[in-house]
Amino acid sequence: MRVLVVGTGAREHAICESLKNDVELYSYMSNINPGIAKISKYRQGNELDIQKVAEYAKDSNIEIAIIGSEAPLGKGIVDELEKYDIKSVGPNISVARIETDKSFMRDLFQEYKIPGSLNFKVFGNYEELDNFLDEYDKDVVVKPVGLTGGKGVKIVGDHLKDNNEAKNYAHEIIDTKMGGFSQVIIEEKAVGEEFTIQAFSDGKNLSPMPAVQDHPHAFEGDSGPITGGMGSYSDNNGLLPFLTQKEYDFAVGIMKKTISAIKDKTSYYYNGILYGQFMLTKDGPKLIEYNARFGDPEVMNTLPIMETPMVDVCSGIVDGKLKKVSFDDKASVCKYLVPDGYPETKYANTLVNVNEEKINSLGGYVYYAAVNQRDDGIYTSSSRAIGVVGIGDTISDGESIAESSCKHIQGNLYHRRDVGKRKLVDKRIKHINEIRTY
Ligand code: GLY
Repeated sequence: MRVLVVGTGAREHAICESLKNDVELYSYMSNINPGIAKISKYRQGNELDIQKVAEYAKDSNIEIAIIGSEAPLGKGIVDELEKYDIKSVGPNISVARIETDKSFMRDLFQEYKIPGSLNFKVFGNYEELDNFLDEYDKDVVVKPVGLTGGKGVKIVGDHLKDNNEAKNYAHEIIDTKMGGFSQVIIEEKAVGEEFTIQAFSDGKNLSPMPAVQDHPHAFEGDSGPITGGMGSYSDNNGLLPFLTQKEYDFAVGIMKKTISAIKDKTSYYYNGILYGQFMLTKDGPKLIEYNARFGDPEVMNTLPIMETPMVDVCSGIVDGKLKKVSFDDKASVCKYLVPDGYPETKYANTLVNVNEEKINSLGGYVYYAAVNQRDDGIYTSSSRAIGVVGIGDTISDGESIAESSCKHIQGNLYHRRDVGKRKLVDKRIKHINEIRTY
């Protein structure tokens, strides 16, 4: 089978690793990712140039394309590939709205009475918005309706001081059409512990992966600016140390109801990966947002422990015959090495030295993210550089493999040593035990 992976980061590198032994692998990437370049035939080009990607897929006789990131999905890459009878793991443009249009997502929950939603309102003018925020006495979250590369969401008590600052930011979103819409969505702020469930879907069947917890703050102790995610962990039973089976099942139930509502609403099946970002609140799981793709870093926790071959899963998705996907009873810890100064862009373009052989001998895995292969070595860019993963019987085992692996990567980089450490995991358990009301 000839499979194309579209995208250039650690997420796509992890997808490629899961396929490399079973398929003829192709990739389309904007930068030369050294990990992907080593294991696939590739074309360098802008992934948003969807016609060019589709032409490359056609010329390479691709049978299945896997779309790594949300931006080409939002541009309609799946519909473009379909013109050449190429099937995709990734939803078409109408269905990708579950990520690309946040008001579509919240309206779907309301219309189909899907549980676990949050109170929200969409505004397109100042007057109603200001009246609402002047009256509302709880903290809010302000979100652009469309895609902003993970940078548009601001939370009162985190990025914003109070609802007055929220008002100013909401005006900015409307005025600048941030994310492509002159609308803003205001949601109630959910308090608790975040967790991710990624699932495979053929539109009728949904098969979930183990739950993962990401760490969005840049610095140890959950401090500093919000980033794309500094590391993540999963546990050997598919749950998280603060998440019960019942809560996990409830969240998966929300995702199952969502794919059936999508079919009813749009008449299309959800073919691809559904990523649910949940908050475990005092009243149970609440859906914060959906993504129409794997999580980054969360994909690095789940694909390395997947027992079912990825090629079978992808065939099941595109043929509408997805079966239950199984995973090893292992825990995993991923740590992201990022350029000094990240998320600012101070030390982009510096050389890094990766001793992959040594890391592999420790049982660790290396996934390249925003780095560039040049003639004289691997260079950072301004974003997350390299994901390192340790797999073990317990979270602590995985953590210690990931941490020792980080010592064998040299450069102007830093990482969060506390991800997956007992102390931080215990803090999460304590937090949930204090707030859970049921
Ligand atoms: N870990 C956050 C994301 O993938 O969107």
